[in-house]
Amino acid sequence: MLLLILMAASLGAEQPVPLGLDIYMPAPDNNQPTREKVVLGRRLFFDRGLSLDRSLSCATCHDPKRAFTDGRTVSVGVYGRRGSRNAPSLINRGYGETHFWDGRAPALEKQVLEPILSSLELALTPAKLEERTRLSPAEVANALASYVRSIRSGNSAYDRYLYGDHGALNKQRRRGLALFRGKAGCSLCHTGPNLSDERFHNTGVAWREGALLDSGRFRVTGSTLDRGSFKTPTLREVARTASLVSSRWWIITTREAVPTPDSIPRFGRFA
Ligand code: HEC
Ligand code: HEC
Repeated sequence: MLLLILMAASLGAEQPVPLGLDIYMPAPDNNQPTREKVVLGRRLFFDRGLSLDRSLSCATCHDPKRAFTDGRTVSVGVYGRRGSRNAPSLINRGYGETHFWDGRAPALEKQVLEPILSSLELALTPAKLEERTRLSPAEVANALASYVRSIRSGNSAYDRYLYGDHGALNKQRRRGLALFRGKAGCSLCHTGPNLSDERFHNTGVAWREGALLDSGRFRVTGSTLDRGSFKTPTLREVARTASLVSSRWWIITTREAVPTPDSIPRFGRFA
């Protein structure tokens, strides 16, 4: 599967869409994906020159081997500066409607520059970025967004099961799926081809002993209903992230994860 992701990631636009995913992936008119942009974006994604002290790249926090997460509770940027949130997986983010846990970035082209310019992450200035890459910030953004759109994962046992291969899931997993869709209610939010409704929910993840550590979506909308709400993440490839270890829960994945439906899921990946 990893091979498949990497292949998809490197070949981008030309790869067939993995089973189970939407054929159509939106991209803005002025940044339609091309092979050149995906290849450039991939190079930039792994380029430590994008960080002030040349110690980090996007891939430090979004490691392909960990489904593009970093295995940490919260991310650590240049000079050990700690952020306050967990690095989300970048799998199938091209299908996303908004970006970041609070959905503050409406488009990937806007999203990808934020970590480069954030003083807690890569900490460059636009001028330094141009000097280091010899590209304009817009060119960097278009290439990185095109690369992120090329990161796709599907064709899991779950997809093959949905598409009629009954044997693709063993009995235990079929029971897990029934729970997922039924009693456990997971598919209320983890729904659709990417197992996310792309909406925001208060799962209690940012609450500690009655105190709200991160107001989440509230910061974007100002609506009290959104206090402590975060975007539903995809569950694809979640077995490769640290979140499964903490949730110890049955998950739809290409990996042979074992369901433990009796355990109470703890999704907390925030500080
Ligand atoms: C220091 C660690 C770190 C680095 C470096 C980093 N990211 Fe992230 N990334 C994060 C964290 C943490 C979030 C979530 C932040 C939030 O929600 O406020 C995130 C969010 C994202 C998202 C949004 C995903 C979603 O589900 O909405 C994308 C896309 C992304 N990063 C791409 C990149 C790219 C491209 C780079 C390189 C230019 C990069 N990141 C560098 C930690 C990092
Ligand atoms: C009300 C909507 C909702 C329901 C129902 C729901 N989730 Fe989630 N899930 C979320 C949101 C929002 C997050 C992100 C915030 C968090 O970690 O709590 C999340 C996070 C997760 C994560 C962490 C993934 C990651 O990459 O960080 C896992 C695993 C998960 N959910 C599995 C499940 C399972 C299994 C069920 C059913 C028992 C379930 N969820 C039910 C909304 C929901």
